Parts: sequence; C-alpha cells; structure tokens
Amino acid sequence: MKALSRKRVLVTGGAGFLGSHLCDRLVEAGHDVIYADNFFTGSKQNEAHLLDKPNFELMRHDVTFPLYVEVDEIYNLACPASPVHYQHDPVQTTKTSVHGAINMLGLAKRLRARILQASTSEVYGDPEVHPQPESYWGKVNPIGIRSCYDEGKRCAETLFFDYHRQHHLEIKVMRIFNTYGPRMHPNDGRVVSNFIVQALRGEDITIYGDGGQTRSFCFVDDLINGMLKLMASDADFTGPVNIGNPGESSMLELAELVLKLTNSRSKLKHLPLPQDDPKQRRPDITLAKNKLDWAPHVALEAGLRKTIDYFKTVVTQH
Ligand SMILES: NC(=O)c1ccc[n+]([C@@H]2O[C@H](COP(=O)([O-])OP(=O)(O)OC[C@H]3O[C@@H](n4cnc5c(N)ncnc54)[C@H](O)[C@@H]3O)[C@@H](O)[C@H]2O)c1
Repeated sequence: MKALSRKRVLVTGGAGFLGSHLCDRLVEAGHDVIYADNFFTGSKQNEAHLLDKPNFELMRHDVTFPLYVEVDEIYNLACPASPVHYQHDPVQTTKTSVHGAINMLGLAKRLRARILQASTSEVYGDPEVHPQPESYWGKVNPIGIRSCYDEGKRCAETLFFDYHRQHHLEIKVMRIFNTYGPRMHPNDGRVVSNFIVQALRGEDITIYGDGGQTRSFCFVDDLINGMLKLMASDADFTGPVNIGNPGESSMLELAELVLKLTNSRSKLKHLPLPQDDPKQRRPDITLAKNKLDWAPHVALEAGLRKTIDYFKTVVTQH
C-alpha cells in the first residue's frame, strides 16, 4: 500500500507487543519509521521481519534520557505493561513513565510534532464507576505495589495536558484497556497469555480469587486501528479517549473458553487475589465511537484462536 502523505514517525517501545504491531502498520503504509527501545521487555524478534525494509530503523535507546531525532509524529509506548515486569523495578517504571514523557514531550515541542501517549485503564484504579467513562477520575492507591505504573501513567497524562495548555502541543491521550494477541510475552503474567500457555503445556490454569472478577479484552488489530485513527484525528481532539473492547468476561469464562479452544485437559487452580487487583474493568467507548468512528470488530473467540496459533509456535520453543 502506498501512503498518500509519507511521514517520519518515532515509536518508543516499538519492540514490544503493541509497538511491534504499530510499526508493521506504519511501515506497510509507507511511512519512515524509527523505533526507540531499551529492550527491557521488548524483543528484536518482534521486528525481525521489518529489518530489511528501507523505511524502518531500529534504535537502542532508553526514554529516560533525552533523544534527538527529526520526526513529524511520536507514539510514546515505552513502558513495561504487565505487573510482573513493571513491579520488577518499580523506580525505573515510574522514571520511564514520567521522565520518558518529559523527554518525548520536549522533543515534540522542539519539532512541533504531534505526540500520542499510550495511557492505560489503570488510571481508573479499582473503579467505583462501571463501565468507566473518560470523565471518571479514578480510585488509585498512591502507595501500593501497582502505583509505580498507575501513578506514573497518571502523571504522564498530567504532563501531556500541561504541555498542551502551556506550549500548545498537539497531544493525543489514549487510555488502553486490556489488549491481547500474537507477540504477547509468554511469561508476563497477563491473564490471556497465562491461560493459553498453561493450557498448551497441560499445566493447571491459575485463577486468582474465585474467578468472578471481570475484564474486557481487545484484540490487537482493533486496538491499533484505534491508535492510528486517534493520531489522525482533528487537531483539537486531545482525548483522553478509551480504546478497548466493552465485551466483559469473568476469569472463569475466559479459562473455560481457552480450555475449549486448545482442547486442553488442564485443571483450574485457585490462588489468593493479589493486592489492589481491580474487581471489574470495562471501557465506555462512546467517545471513541463519536469522535473517531471507532469500535472493535474482532470477537473474543476469533482473536483467541489467532493468539493460540501464535503461542503454539512459541511454547514449543521453550
Ligand atoms: N497491552 C495492554 O493491554 C496495555 C494496556 C494498557 C496500556 N498499555 C500501554 O501500551 C504500551 C505498550 O504496551 P505493551 O503491551 O506493548 O508492553 P510491552 O512490555 O510489550 O512493550 C513495552 C516496550 O517498551 C520498552 N521499554 C520499557 N522501558 C523502556 C525505556 N525506559 N526506554 C525505552 N523502551 C522501554 C520495552 O522494552 C518494550 O519493548 C505501554 O506504555 C503500556 O503501558 C498496554
């Protein structure tokens, strides 16, 4: 596909799960894509198929340090996203969110580039409002074990809006809800990857608590469509905007679906709930529908089949 207007685009965190899918779409559209990643959770393997493309460039860089490149648009995705990874080095997680945002906003300011922040549904914490609209301010514990991520992302949103108000930057803030798909890390403790890997290996499926807590799961292709639409939206639309799939499933329902699709004989094993684990999470996507004409299309079962096919190749390698 040939792009109508070719742009120079920086993707931070481009070697990660979402970043690699975003790079695929941008390269395919003909843009000049640079990704900056310190490979904390990302893998060069995710981009191996792009390395010989003339419009793709890999850069090892940690966003907690300033970066000088010439680009027209910046997608700021750098940050470990799973609790296992972001709690491994919580100070670095907050630094990545906060210093990373400052450095990327500084770059955007110098270049007058449009910048998108990959924020998260975690800014709503353990919500008292269900489903969560963007106008809800959230209920977040500032000193818990998830706070390095939740508060880091909240502070990054603050910085984006202050740069917008103070320096008139064109910002786009996207609150991403649970997303799944090929290239998720097999061992990152996120529920979809956990269940699939356990089912494929014939190990017990670990369910925290009674399994009645719910999540909504968005397939990665839908999510990236939303991200691209947000970046291309009118200059006066800043967000924050929820992008996720409002279909809600309990952990027990998800486990049973994974067992069915993998033909696994794994058994369910219940473990205690981790601290500050939200009981339910579901996006209100009215704003995305109205402003971006966006809604997810991939059904959970269809998305899980593609994800399971991917994990079959990865799990056998371990
Ligand atoms: N996947 C989801 O369900 C989800 C949900 C909400 C928000 N998000 C956000 O989307 C973004 C991408 O998430 P993901 O699922 O692809 O996670 P991921 O862990 O797969 O990718 C994150 C990438 O950022 C890189 N990174 C981490 N710290 C860095 C640093 N200091 N400098 C440079 N690179 C660094 C990692 O190496 C990795 O490649 C994150 O900002 C995350 O908070 C994701």
